[in-house]
Amino acid sequence: MSGHTHDDIDWADRLTQLRMADTLDASALTPVARRLLAGLPEHPTIVDVGCGAGGMSVLFARELARGGTLVLVDATPKLLAEAERAVAEAAAGSVEVVSLQGDLADPGLAAPAADLVWASGVVHHVGDQQAALRTLAGLVRPGGVLAIAEGGLELRCLPWELGVGRPGLEQRLHAARAAWFTRMRAGLPGSVPMLYGWTRALREAGLSDVESFGALIDHPMPGSDLLREYVVHRIGWLADWATEWLDPDDRAAVATLTDPRSPHFLGHRDDLYLFGAKAIHSGRSR
Ligand SMILES: C[S@@+](CC[C@H](N)C(=O)[O-])C[C@H]1O[C@@H](n2cnc3c(N)ncnc32)[C@H](O)[C@@H]1O
Repeated sequence: MSGHTHDDIDWADRLTQLRMADTLDASALTPVARRLLAGLPEHPTIVDVGCGAGGMSVLFARELARGGTLVLVDATPKLLAEAERAVAEAAAGSVEVVSLQGDLADPGLAAPAADLVWASGVVHHVGDQQAALRTLAGLVRPGGVLAIAEGGLELRCLPWELGVGRPGLEQRLHAARAAWFTRMRAGLPGSVPMLYGWTRALREAGLSDVESFGALIDHPMPGSDLLREYVVHRIGWLADWATEWLDPDDRAAVATLTDPRSPHFLGHRDDLYLFGAKAIHSGRSR
């Protein structure tokens, strides 16, 4: 267990990348925030579990013009502090912001009763995902909604041929990451397989009106400076985590592509892009 999570990941170290992703994902997630807030009562309470750098709660805060309460929950103090800063800035005093350090693997995780619980990219970092969903569902008021972002389509950002190494590097990085992911999940304390998909898992957690929808991440070429910086981080990060499943040629190619002194540095390219999709699954508390 590294830091305060169970997955051996130094999340605080990923702050820069999470912040960049929050900025790049905002256009895709703003309609998601609107859709999730649409049916809620006046002055709702929203709990964002595994809030990271706070990107989605910033979007909730911007949409809550008539006020409400945003409760940020994360196991990593540095990320929680950044999320609180970013959300308070976006809320500009119109929304109450509360931050709580907490562990989603703790069945006693406590937070104010919520009209909406949002958990993006965190349930799969807990050994017993079904138990984590029951914990999240327990934070929702009767009639309120639990929405999770899990799965979807892995982001693509590189051309097939890069002028260095073998073609198809990004696909091999994704395959290596899948191997890493399988081992990460197996190594989590209390890890149990969940032999069905997220919508069934939400129903098993006692929720009704379960549905899924997608949010397209689509930043076409040539992309902004931020996009280039993000891609350099992302490719280095994929290769770092999955290094043992990559062959030496691919490791060497990634080292060249992420080296600002190299003529092949990704940060100098005008043909990078981001294309992928987030999957959102939601259900209502009875
Ligand atoms: C992949 S990031 C997702 C951040 C953000 N929700 C997003 O979608 O960009 C995972 C977040 O979950 C947090 N986390 C990991 N394990 C956790 C646990 N057991 N309890 C609470 N937070 C956890 C990490 O600190 C990190 O902020």
